[in-house]
Amino acid sequence: MALPALGYILTFRDSPALRQLLLPAMMMMMRSIGFILVLALAGATLRPPLSKECSLIGLWQNDLGSEMKVMGVSSTGYFFGTYLTSVTSSDKPISESPIHGSQQMGDQEQLTFGFTVAWSFSDSTTVFVGQCFVDDKGKETLQTMWLLRKKADSRQDNWKATLVGTNVFTRAKYKSPGRAGRVL
Ligand code: BTN
Repeated sequence: MALPALGYILTFRDSPALRQLLLPAMMMMMRSIGFILVLALAGATLRPPLSKECSLIGLWQNDLGSEMKVMGVSSTGYFFGTYLTSVTSSDKPISESPIHGSQQMGDQEQLTFGFTVAWSFSDSTTVFVGQCFVDDKGKETLQTMWLLRKKADSRQDNWKATLVGTNVFTRAKYKSPGRAGRVL
């Protein structure tokens, strides 16, 4: 097996014509490999770091399947949108409810925020507080905690009127409403 290779090396060594033909090609190949390596290294080091900044604007879905749409944030940090809960303690049919909140404007990285949902289909009100976290791949997660105030029938029932919990929101994809849901 090694003999033909040895024969080839000897022929190459001893044949100046062959050497003259192959040497420039080999040098060009090595130069191209070097160039590709430099480009790859530059690409790896010069690539801008992924943004760690968080924007609340957009559609979010939480671990219960509820959807929150943040439509705008003002320069002072006020934001508004809609909330469609997937669960309810009320016996009324669920419908979309407005949200109003405010976020910290100084540092857009891992910003904190709070918002209120005055439910349109029940007597309850929920307040959420939370923080946005961005991972190494740029994925945003909203870690929240909420207080849900139900309407107590009397002061004596006040003690059982507040629920507390947590929700984690991640970005949801917009679903096309399709033909039926479109406003013509
Ligand atoms: C009600 O049941 O009176 C109104 C709906 C409450 C829904 C709560 S708010 C906290 C939790 N997170 C959700 O997405 N939905 C429930």
